[in-house]
Order: sequence, then C-alpha cells, then structure tokens
Amino acid sequence: MLDLLIHDASLPDGRRHVGVAVQDGRIVALREGLGPAEAPAQEVVDAAGQLLSPPFVDAHFHLDSVLSYGLPRVNASGTLLEGIALWGELKPQLSAEALIERALAYCDWAVGRGLLAIRSHVDICDDRLLAVQALREVKRRVAPWLELQLVAFPQDGALRSPGALRNLERALDLGVEVVGGIPHFERTMADGAESVRRLCTLAAERGLRVDMHCDESDDPLSRHVETLAAETLRLGLQGRVTGSHLTSMHSMDSYYVSKLIPLMAEAQLQVVANPLINITLQGRHDGYPKRRGLTRVPELLAAGLTVAFGHDCAMDPWYALGSADMLEVAHMGLHVAQLTGQAAMRQCFEAVTTQPARILGLDDWGLAEGREASFVLLQARDPVEALRLRAVRLGVWRRGRCLARSEPQVTRLALPGRPGETRFQRPG
Ligand code: FE2
Repeated sequence: MLDLLIHDASLPDGRRHVGVAVQDGRIVALREGLGPAEAPAQEVVDAAGQLLSPPFVDAHFHLDSVLSYGLPRVNASGTLLEGIALWGELKPQLSAEALIERALAYCDWAVGRGLLAIRSHVDICDDRLLAVQALREVKRRVAPWLELQLVAFPQDGALRSPGALRNLERALDLGVEVVGGIPHFERTMADGAESVRRLCTLAAERGLRVDMHCDESDDPLSRHVETLAAETLRLGLQGRVTGSHLTSMHSMDSYYVSKLIPLMAEAQLQVVANPLINITLQGRHDGYPKRRGLTRVPELLAAGLTVAFGHDCAMDPWYALGSADMLEVAHMGLHVAQLTGQAAMRQCFEAVTTQPARILGLDDWGLAEGREASFVLLQARDPVEALRLRAVRLGVWRRGRCLARSEPQVTRLALPGRPGETRFQRPG
C-alpha cells in the first residue's frame, strides 16, 4: 500500500484529473486518471480539481532582519539608504536568541504558505558574525521541513566596510553556501567593479554560487551587472551566478540594454527581481513621473534568462508589510512588469515556484515521477486563479508528509434572493 495518494488534481501545466502516488517520500507515479481503486494508499486526498503545485521558493530574503520592524525606530524617509542606516543602528543591539526566535516565527509562516525553500542573505559586516551563527542554528532546526540556503552578504560593502572580506571568508568557512556582494554600495564605480571581480574569484576558487545585490539603484549608469556577467564568463561560472534587484536596468538607455541582455544570456546569469520592495523603494528621489524601478522582466524572460521574484523583506527596516506569501509577491510583479497576457501570468507563477528552485539548485524538486514528494494544494483551479485569489494553501507536503492544512475560504452571504455563499471563483 502507498503512503499517500492525491487524486483528481489539476497541475500548473494544464493537465487535469491527475493522481500523484507517494511512497517513502518520493513521487512513484503521476498520471491522469490515477485514482484510489488503482493506487490504494494510507492517506487519500481528493483534490476535487484544485491545483497541485510545486512548493513556493523564495530566492531572495533577509532572515536576519525579518520581523524587526520598529526596532529601534521606523524608516522615516522610506528609502533604501535610511533602511541600511537603520539596520546599522540595530545591529549592535541584536542578540542571537532574538534573531533565532524571529527567523523561526517567519519560517512557520513560510510553511503555512507552502513556501518550503528560502535563500536568505546574512549580513557578515559584524566581527561577531552573530547573525551567521544564529541563522546556521535556524537552518539546522528547520532542515526537516524547510530548505534554507545562506548567502554571505557584506551589507556595508565588501571593500568599504573594514574587515568585510575577511568576515565573508570566515562565514564561508562556517558553512555559508553562497557568496554575496553589493557593488553599488561601494565608494566608487571602480570599487564596485573591483568588488565583483574579487567576490566572483573567491566563489570560483571555492566552487560556490554567487548572488549579489546588484545595481539596486535608479542610476542608469550603475552598470555592475555588466561586470558580473563578464566575470561569470571569465571564470566559467555560467548558470551559478545570480544578479538580485538589477533595478538600474529600468532606467538605462535602451540601446545599451540591447547589448547588455545578450551578454547576460551568454553568461546564463540568473535574475531575481523583488517587486514588493522595488516598487516601494525605487523612484524615491523622483518628482513626477515617478519611476517604477523594477528590472526589465519581460525582456529578460524573452531572452531566455531564468527570472524569479523574491520577497526580500518582511516587517524590517526596509518594508513594513509581508507575510511569506509568494503569491502576493508574484501578484505585485505581474502588475509592475505589466505581465498581463495568459502566458505571461503563468510565467509570474513560475517565477515563485520552478524558476527560483532552479536558482537554488533544487534539482530534485518538481511534479514528476522519481522526484521528492513536496507540493502544495491550492484553493484554485489554475495558476492564474491562484494569483488572482492569492489562493488558500489547503495542504502543504514535504517528502510526502503533511506539514500544514488550512480551511478553504468560503464567505457566507445574506443577500435576498441570492445563493448563500461565494468562493470568488467564476461560475461554471
Ligand atoms: Fe535584499
């Protein structure tokens, strides 16, 4: 007898009435029409035509600052730079216990939302490496249910902050998996480019991936992504380097971008846009018209690049809202990037599921026979409806084990002459 069978599910690729059979934490059969008569199991779930999706994945987050909103004060200007200054004020007051507690609370939210893998940057510009130690402990504790990948992030600049490069190497020695950077925050453009060269070289020497906060700026001349792509090619790091934010691309001259995007494609650069944060922080120095600041997502997708949407922040010095809901992130990305066609909306769904899984290197994830049995059942019939409704996660499974369940959303109405409830779904 099987451990688990989910039947009559719809899949993101459009297949209907699909059964997914699970044994020992893996998908052993997946096909249309597979039901309990043919595949008896200890746990049988009737999906009733709802969408079974791969888990949500967040390729860009900051678990060390999460849920610290208001500590020690709120960001009055709402800018990126005040947020960085505010985080600098908070850092000396941090304790490992408080960091761990806040990060674990967010991981609970994540699991409840079907978000089962997070790449978190961790600030290493602190000689104590307090946040590194704390998030290593969080990673150990959540490992049975949540995949946590850590990036050594020099928040105050790898070259600008004294000791940052040494601390970054110490963090890698402790087991942090990815090399981070922030070239646009170095003192000069030349220093920014030098930081990209040094950090990519370090990653190549250690056989690690790279994920840099890159050109998170409205300055069209912030072109560190060009150096990042060139260094990726020089060092043979294709497919292992991510440029996060890339907001300056929004403001760049389009002729220059017509040369840049093919270079990025040649380097197989991966891109993470962070719609909630980019639409909030960018354009703050503009009058009207006010720039959106999101990177050129449709053009990057058209060039064949892997593009994910990240949450980036939740209730911290940079962003007051957020609740680990990657459908909210994709919903915002859809609007800001004007990805409104049917195929484009499906790409927005992929930007918080399969695309970030590729960036994290989760090769064993996905709805296919032989893969890890991790998935989310949504109260929606297809990816577009899931986005529209920010659908309830009816069930969340990791390696065949149910980790979370939510009641379906049903609103009871008291309207004269109308049926008594709605689920906000189209009739028929
Ligand atoms: Fe970030």
